Amino acid sequence: MKVISQIKLPVEKEMELFERKFLEAMSSKVALLNRITHYIVNRKGKQMRPMFVFLVAKMVSEGNVNERTYRGASVIELIHTATLVHDDVVDDSNRRRGFFSINALWKNKIAVLVGDYLLSKGLLLSIDNNDFDLLKIISVAVREMSEGELLQIEKARRLDITEEVYYDIIRQKTATLIAACCSLGAASVKPDSDAVEKMRKFGELIGMAFQIKDDLFDYGDEKIGKPTGIDIKEQKMTLPLIYALNNSTKKEKDWVINSVKNHNKNKKRVNEVIQFVKDKGGLDYSVKRMEEFQQEALVILEEYPASAYRDSLELMVNYVIERKK
Ligand code: IPE
Ligand code: IPE
Ligand code: MG
Ligand code: MG
Repeated sequence: MKVISQIKLPVEKEMELFERKFLEAMSSKVALLNRITHYIVNRKGKQMRPMFVFLVAKMVSEGNVNERTYRGASVIELIHTATLVHDDVVDDSNRRRGFFSINALWKNKIAVLVGDYLLSKGLLLSIDNNDFDLLKIISVAVREMSEGELLQIEKARRLDITEEVYYDIIRQKTATLIAACCSLGAASVKPDSDAVEKMRKFGELIGMAFQIKDDLFDYGDEKIGKPTGIDIKEQKMTLPLIYALNNSTKKEKDWVINSVKNHNKNKKRVNEVIQFVKDKGGLDYSVKRMEEFQQEALVILEEYPASAYRDSLELMVNYVIERKK
């Protein structure tokens, strides 16, 4: 059995019902919007975030979920989808999940508005049901994601990013949402319990590993359903490159910075930079850091009694760093 199906097994029923609720949550009276949301739903992603919500909820409550858990999972996936639609505009990327991105098909104007629509639908789902504790968790994540993306742009302009700032960026833009999944899963069934904070930390650690993996994909040429090799083109300096720079001579450094600054649209030059990063051990170093986050996350899980849910979460943590897309 594929590992992802195995992970899903203890929450299979919940995920099925979730999919129906998720589609319903996106519906609109505007025909154009419905066309686009159907396009989105038919090309679904890995759905790791709702799985985290259900698995955590069930792990901390001996297998119970409730309507709040379902709404929480929908809100998170709505917001995740909104940020991807916006992210592809920001990154000028034309592929997502193996198909054309929304901006590639409908142009930026429409993609920006669709993203806003999905975001507002997510927030309203919480508000309309008085899930204010969950709304708080989610809103913090939304704010941090915007800050993270902007910090990334600021650093891309000045090309002066350090390893510490890189971790700040990925914590904000990616890890906070996965942290929100896990703390919200716990809060939906056990509000005000210690598990809410513990699971937030757990999700944050996985989120860090998750984004390092995503940044490693960019240095490969595997088919992952979205473009690779675009980070340097977008002047996005991620961990492999930062490490390589920190271990370069002044001359090498000047060459890399000049390449990223002035030759970032030159394919041949970008490939030379990629090769340079590999030769400097940038990928190996990033894998090492990623595994450290993974191990820290696993330690937190061990505090919980053994269960099918905990087993799945453990598999999920490993899947995050072993996944092929
Ligand atoms: C992509 O997230 C965005 C990042 C934070 C790197 P996923 O890889 O979970 O995207 P889908 O939902 O499976 O397409
Ligand atoms: C992650 O950023 C997306 C968000 C957290 C908004 P990336 O730009 O690195 O993600 P991909 O690679 O496009 O999915
Ligand atoms: Mg992107
Ligand atoms: Mg990326």
